[in-house]
Amino acid sequence: MSSSGNVVIWFILMVSMFIMISMVEGEPQVPCYFIFGDSVVDNGNNNDLITTAKANYFPYGIDFPTGPENGRFTNGRNKADFLAELIEFDNFIPPFATARGPEILKGVNYGSGVAGIRDETGYRWGDRISMNRQLLNHQVTILRINSILRNVTAAKSLLNKCLYTVDMGNNDYLNNYLQPKYYPTSLLYTPEKFADVLAQQFSRQLKTLYGYGARKVAVSNIGLLGCLPEETRVFGRNASGCVDFINNYVQLFNDKLKPLIDDLNTNLSGARFTYINITSISSGGPANDFTVFDKPCCIVSDTIAKGQCQEGEIPCSNRNQYIFYDNFHPTEVANLATAKRSYNAFLPTDAHPMDISQLIQTQ
Ligand SMILES: *[C@@H]1O[C@H](CO)[C@@H](O)[C@H](O)[C@H]1NC(C)=O
Ligand SMILES: *[C@@H]1O[C@H](CO)[C@@H](O)[C@H](O)[C@H]1NC(C)=O
Ligand SMILES: *[C@@H]1O[C@H](CO)[C@@H](O)[C@H](O)[C@H]1NC(C)=O
Ligand SMILES: *[C@@H]1O[C@H](CO)[C@@H](O)[C@H](O)[C@H]1NC(C)=O
Repeated sequence: MSSSGNVVIWFILMVSMFIMISMVEGEPQVPCYFIFGDSVVDNGNNNDLITTAKANYFPYGIDFPTGPENGRFTNGRNKADFLAELIEFDNFIPPFATARGPEILKGVNYGSGVAGIRDETGYRWGDRISMNRQLLNHQVTILRINSILRNVTAAKSLLNKCLYTVDMGNNDYLNNYLQPKYYPTSLLYTPEKFADVLAQQFSRQLKTLYGYGARKVAVSNIGLLGCLPEETRVFGRNASGCVDFINNYVQLFNDKLKPLIDDLNTNLSGARFTYINITSISSGGPANDFTVFDKPCCIVSDTIAKGQCQEGEIPCSNRNQYIFYDNFHPTEVANLATAKRSYNAFLPTDAHPMDISQLIQTQ
């Protein structure tokens, strides 16, 4: 082969290597993403806790690249995984339980199944990492970031640029207020008063998060819990197909959450909180393949871990037609649909005052 041919081949190789490197090193739209929440986003933090609220066994994870041990409460990726993909992170955000070293500069996932705004929420399942404990874990992360960067100013400025998402409150109803046999809240508070107390505690927690440097914060409301298969199984269905009184209770909280978000933006300088409306996102929208809206895909347990998948049982094969994987948790395709509309609102009611794609573009 002539030497000029060699040069051409060398040149093509160099160009294609350059293209490959720039693809691999494509920057995400924000430098870091921190995730707070419950089982909707948990990616393994409950695996080593003493609790029945864990999902590191078959058939969970049947469609996940590394299989069932990852600990997500669904068949594949969860909502936080898809959001990270939409923001163009190359890897999943690691769980706090195992995140170590420089990877934490890109974010950490604190999510914990059955956790709530209130500390006692979910205790009947065993240990869980409440919102207050997740905030303490975030303090640990910040100390680690400070020691990696060896520059508190640089660490602060990094934390200001990250995206934060918070998915909390589901269990304060499901695994607290709606279980009067085990939790006293419904004896202590009317539904209206409980929503008020819950929103006030949430407000303090969101301010704490702001105090730790969070500026771009997307907060999900509580979805239609009365439509979960577990709740219709226990309470029966109204004409709506759901348990109306549960949806009405949750609505009381959501009605307080919107002005709370607006207030935080007014009162805290540089704050950009946004309200992601799961109620809107889950009711009607773009055409999809769902055909089963009210039954779980897996065979659920009736004993320990009631409502979660029964260990070892083969789930449905047409998983992309189901909304629910077990009696509480959406399937991977439903998670994708929710993540997409949180990122790019489909209806004006999906996000207030902006969706996540707009939130991360703010300065
Ligand atoms: C710390 O970081 C800030 C902001 O990135 C930078 O301006 C400053 O020079 C850094 N200080 C040291 C000692 O490296
Ligand atoms: C829903 O069903 C319950 C139990 O059957 C019933 O008591 C209640 O009145 C119904 N609510 C509505 C709004 O229909
Ligand atoms: C915001 O400030 C107003 C006026 O000081 C106050 O009434 C309100 O409670 C504050 N809201 C929050 C969420 O801090
Ligand atoms: C959330 O969506 C529901 C259902 O579309 C709607 O009734 C409600 O007003 C929305 N909330 C906000 C804050 O936009």
